Amino acid sequence: MKKIGFLGCGKIGKRLLKEIQEKNLGEVVFIQDPFCQEKKIEGVPVIPEYREELYDQADLFIECATADALKAQTEKILTRADLLMFSVTAFSDAAFEEEVKRLTAANGTRVFIPHGAILGLDGILDGRQIWEEVSIETTKSPASLSRQDTERTVVYEGPTREACREYPRNVNVHAAVALSGIGFEKTRSVIISDPSVHTNAHVIRLKGKGVEMELHVESFTTGGVTGEYTPLSACGSLHRILDEKAVIQVV
Ligand SMILES: NC(=O)c1ccc[n+]([C@@H]2O[C@H](COP(=O)([O-])OP(=O)(O)OC[C@H]3O[C@@H](n4cnc5c(N)ncnc54)[C@H](O)[C@@H]3O)[C@@H](O)[C@H]2O)c1
Repeated sequence: MKKIGFLGCGKIGKRLLKEIQEKNLGEVVFIQDPFCQEKKIEGVPVIPEYREELYDQADLFIECATADALKAQTEKILTRADLLMFSVTAFSDAAFEEEVKRLTAANGTRVFIPHGAILGLDGILDGRQIWEEVSIETTKSPASLSRQDTERTVVYEGPTREACREYPRNVNVHAAVALSGIGFEKTRSVIISDPSVHTNAHVIRLKGKGVEMELHVESFTTGGVTGEYTPLSACGSLHRILDEKAVIQVV
C-alpha cells in the first residue's frame, strides 16, 4: 500500500483524503499545511513545515496548495518520490520546468498532471505536432478573481505565461493546456470577470492542419478558486495513478 504525503489540505486536499481513507487506496502519513489550526485531520498528523523523517516515508506526494508552496518543496519531493500536482501554473516559470526535468531524470521520479477542471489534456498532447493555434478563455465571477467588477470585463488577453503570473491561482487549466500543447508563449489566454455568473467556464479552441476543435466546460462553484467538478476529477486521477491492477483502463 502506497504511503502518501499531502502539501496543502483545502477543498481538493480534503476530498482526496476522504477518498483515500474511505476506499483504502493508501496510507496518508502527513499533511503539510502551515495555515491549518488542527494538529490532526481525520487522524493524520498536520505539520507546518518540512519534516525529514515524514518525507522519507512517502511514496507519493500530492500537492494541492499553491504554486509557490510547491516550488519551495520541489527538490525535497522529487528526490524522494512521485508527485501529483494541482498548482500547474508553477510550470509557467521556466526555472521550475528545468528543475522538474533535472530532478525526475536524476532520481527516476515522475510528475502527474491531472486534467483537473477541464477535459482533453491527453488529446491536446496527442495532437501537439499539428496545432497551429491554441487558445483558452475563462469566465469567472469577480469574487473568484479577487476583483469587484460590476460589469463584464476582459481582465487579461495575451500569452498564457503572463496570465499565470498575474492570476496564479485561477488559470491552472491555462497552464495545463499550454504545457500539453504548444507552450506558454504561443498559447493565448483570455480571462473575463463577469458578475452575472456563478460558474467557472472555460472555452478551449484548437486549430491545426485539417483539424479544428472547441471544448466548452462549465462547473458550478460555491466560492474559492475551485469549481465543483475538480474534486471529483482529482479523485479519478488519483485512482488511475494508484490502481495498477485496473482491468479496464481509459488511456
Ligand atoms: N489543475 C486544476 O485544474 C485546478 C483546479 C482547481 C484548483 N487548482 C489549484 O489547486 C490548488 C488547491 O486548490 P484548492 O481549491 O484545494 O485550494 P484551497 O484554498 O481550498 O486549499 C489550499 C490549501 O493550501 C494551504 N497552503 C497555503 N500555503 C501553503 C504552504 N506554503 N504549504 C502548504 N500548504 C499551504 C492552505 O492553507 C489551504 O489549506 C490551488 O493552487 C488551486 O489554484 C487547480
